[in-house]
Amino acid sequence: MEKLSNKKLSIPILLGSSRIGRQSSKVAEFIFQKMIVQDSIDTKLIDLKDYNLPMLEERLNEMKNPPESLLQFCSQLGQADGILIVTPEYKNGYPAVLKNALDYLEPQALYHKPIGICTVSAGGFGGLNCLAQLRLVCLALGGLPIPEKLSISQVREIFDEEGNLQDATLPSKVESFINELVWYVEALARQK
Ligand SMILES: Cc1cc2nc3c(=O)[nH]c(=O)nc-3n(C[C@H](O)[C@H](O)[C@H](O)COP(=O)(O)O)c2cc1C
Repeated sequence: MEKLSNKKLSIPILLGSSRIGRQSSKVAEFIFQKMIVQDSIDTKLIDLKDYNLPMLEERLNEMKNPPESLLQFCSQLGQADGILIVTPEYKNGYPAVLKNALDYLEPQALYHKPIGICTVSAGGFGGLNCLAQLRLVCLALGGLPIPEKLSISQVREIFDEEGNLQDATLPSKVESFINELVWYVEALARQK
């Protein structure tokens, strides 16, 4: 297929856990290292822990003095061509910190943006309930959750305490997931 242009595709990684001792940050960091070396991708790790967003009391457009971190968060996602979300499953769903952040976005903020969802769990089910629910949230923002999933079960066996990879099968799973997401992002970018 013909190359789009020299413009890189902007695909930030959004990490949906701010928990002290979180394991999903190891997965996000691993994916980030795979994406950052790709010439066609411009990525960054958007770590909600760094943004410290207030619990939503007003929509962004109703706030008199929105915090700079909130403006930055919304603008980074608004400008992206696609998004890769890495999130743990909490209580069969998505973490409150992630939903709180997404609730600040305008209703169609992710219009025509493909979204890859990677779910992480300590148990054996890989966060599949979270995946199903988060896909609905993405649709409400106009985003296009891609059919492929990257479900990481038993995360404590996949990375050691220092975040070193212990599972030889993960790199190829991550690579094919990224390739699939990029396929959709490119396809949508051609239409714009
Ligand atoms: C509040 C809370 C709720 C959780 N609920 C679930 C759950 O419903 N299903 C599951 O498989 N793991 C659940 N876990 C365990 C996570 O899978 C585990 O913490 C894993 O390491 C990923 O989350 P982390 O990035 O916060 O570490 C829960 C953890 C927390 C802190």
